[in-house]
Amino acid sequence: MDHQPVDETEILGVLRGVMDPELHDNIVDLGMVRSVSVKGETAHITIALTTAGCPLRATIKRDCETRVESLPGINSVQLHWDELTPEERTRVMERARLKARDTAAPSQIPARTRVISIASGKGGVGKSSVTVNIATALASRGLTVGVLDADIWGFSVPRMLGVDSRLNARPANSDEERGKIVPEERPEGPGLLKVVSTGLMVDTEETALMWRGLMLAKAVEQFLHDVDWGDLDYLLIDMPPGTGDVQMALARLLPQAEMLVVTTPAVSAQKVAIRVADMARRSHMPVLGVIENMSAFTTPDGTSWPLFGEGGGERLANEIGVPLLGSIPLEAAVSTGGDTGQPVATSEGPASRAFHEIATRIFEEIAPPPDMNACSASVIAEIPVSLKSEKTSDH
Ligand SMILES: Nc1ncnc2c1ncn2[C@@H]1O[C@H](COP(=O)(O)OP(=O)(O)OP(=O)(O)O)[C@@H](O)[C@H]1O
Ligand SMILES: [Mg+2]
Repeated sequence: MDHQPVDETEILGVLRGVMDPELHDNIVDLGMVRSVSVKGETAHITIALTTAGCPLRATIKRDCETRVESLPGINSVQLHWDELTPEERTRVMERARLKARDTAAPSQIPARTRVISIASGKGGVGKSSVTVNIATALASRGLTVGVLDADIWGFSVPRMLGVDSRLNARPANSDEERGKIVPEERPEGPGLLKVVSTGLMVDTEETALMWRGLMLAKAVEQFLHDVDWGDLDYLLIDMPPGTGDVQMALARLLPQAEMLVVTTPAVSAQKVAIRVADMARRSHMPVLGVIENMSAFTTPDGTSWPLFGEGGGERLANEIGVPLLGSIPLEAAVSTGGDTGQPVATSEGPASRAFHEIATRIFEEIAPPPDMNACSASVIAEIPVSLKSEKTSDH
């Protein structure tokens, strides 16, 4: 049968029906369709994925083929794969995040919780140490603090907080509901830490590796949707190094998240951190401040040794126009505290003091939890509940 030749616009039109299941938007508007051309009855389409090994590739492929082949005049589809550049990924994320603001899936994180992700552009600068110690310092004030270890493959939070039992699941109350994972709790003075990490879900390193391919891409989402976090004043998220998929997932799932950037006093670390902060800006995730870690080591006689350089935190803070919340000195107790599961913030000393001072600034000045009794935030927190009850009363 003779057909009008199909043009590129028509193909783009049907490709708009292909959703990236992870980013909840269509691949055309996300900017993932690199090129489209028609030769005879064959459509050639180039799609750029967030990463070459994207587990959703097969789904996207099938969806593209089905839709494009449904066009009269197209017999076959040739898909070519490409990878987004870091800049393109940032744009894709920005777009997905803006969209998520309108259609955010409900997470188990209460609306009143201050969500703070601890990020850096480079590994090993102390994100995990900063996360567990600030969480500990906040909890010691009587607050309930969630710690989400989003470093799915390189988890270190369980060891640093001395929690190692397996997470329990609470059975579902009804057929429609799914069972919920219960966080591991660690009391901290008058307060409480609630910890979730893949390290608490896998038994051995081998199981961890099995998880990798299977469901780790979805793990952060699961931690937000399937964990019964209960009430939380803060949720601190220990981010994996770099600016990859986990960050993108988080930005989409928790539009309320704010970011703290950890850097060392060295200039090289600072340059990387600028990239992270820049990404945060573009994804509308506000940067609350900079924390400098591994600052000058002071010997008992008072001599200061800036082993990892000086001034990187201050420079970075100035550059991105946010406050430097504090500097944590290089101190053996930080590292031994992490190894023994007793964060340095539970003891005395310069590093502990620095962590408590930063926690105080966060609590009093930078990101105080909303006073639910005194402001309209309680109304917002009630919305999901009233929506649910409206739905039930419809039946
Ligand atoms: N202020 C400090 N003084 C001494 N040692 C520190 C300090 N901060 C962190 N460390 C040590 O440096 C190492 C790296 O810290 P940490 O694991 O917190 O970094 P990270 O940024 O989370 O790393 P990754 O990118 O691998 O997740 C750890 O062994 C930790 O104990
Ligand atoms: Mg870490």
